[in-house]
Amino acid sequence: MGPSLYDELGEDFFRRLVHGFYEQVKTDDLLGPMYPADDWEGAENRLRWFLVQYWGGPHTFQAERGRPMLRKRHFPFSIGMPEAERWLELMERSFAQFGEEELPVDARAQLWNHMQRVAYMMINRQ
Ligand code: HEM
Repeated sequence: MGPSLYDELGEDFFRRLVHGFYEQVKTDDLLGPMYPADDWEGAENRLRWFLVQYWGGPHTFQAERGRPMLRKRHFPFSIGMPEAERWLELMERSFAQFGEEELPVDARAQLWNHMQRVAYMMINRQ
């Protein structure tokens, strides 16, 4: 199996990636209003622990939230193509804070493929 992406990139990478994303979500006209304004820290933690777990790190997400069931968890939100594309756009900008030293091309591609796949899977309206 080899070392996981979590082992390769480290815990702090995921913290910084998700933080950079949420810093933009807060002021985003489309996505901002969808998120709990009084729990940015919680939202940040949920996404961070999900990614950490998915990429081979500790199962903190499972312990705190149970099975991911992401599609079901996103049903309360109206997500169409514009929302999915915006989510990816903000995440791509957060990726930009990392140079190739910190985030090798192959790791970046793996993370990005997964996020794109999940983002389009979350679409629940036309
Ligand atoms: C397609 C566009 C997306 C939109 C509009 C969206 C929106 C949201 C919103 C409004 C929440 C609730 C915030 C909270 O309280 O935690 C949430 C939660 C979450 N999202 Fe998304 N999301 C999208 C895509 C994704 C993708 C691509 C992933 C994973 C790669 C993801 C993973 C999560 C996780 C792990 C949670 C927390 C679930 C929980 O523990 O309850 N989301 N999302």
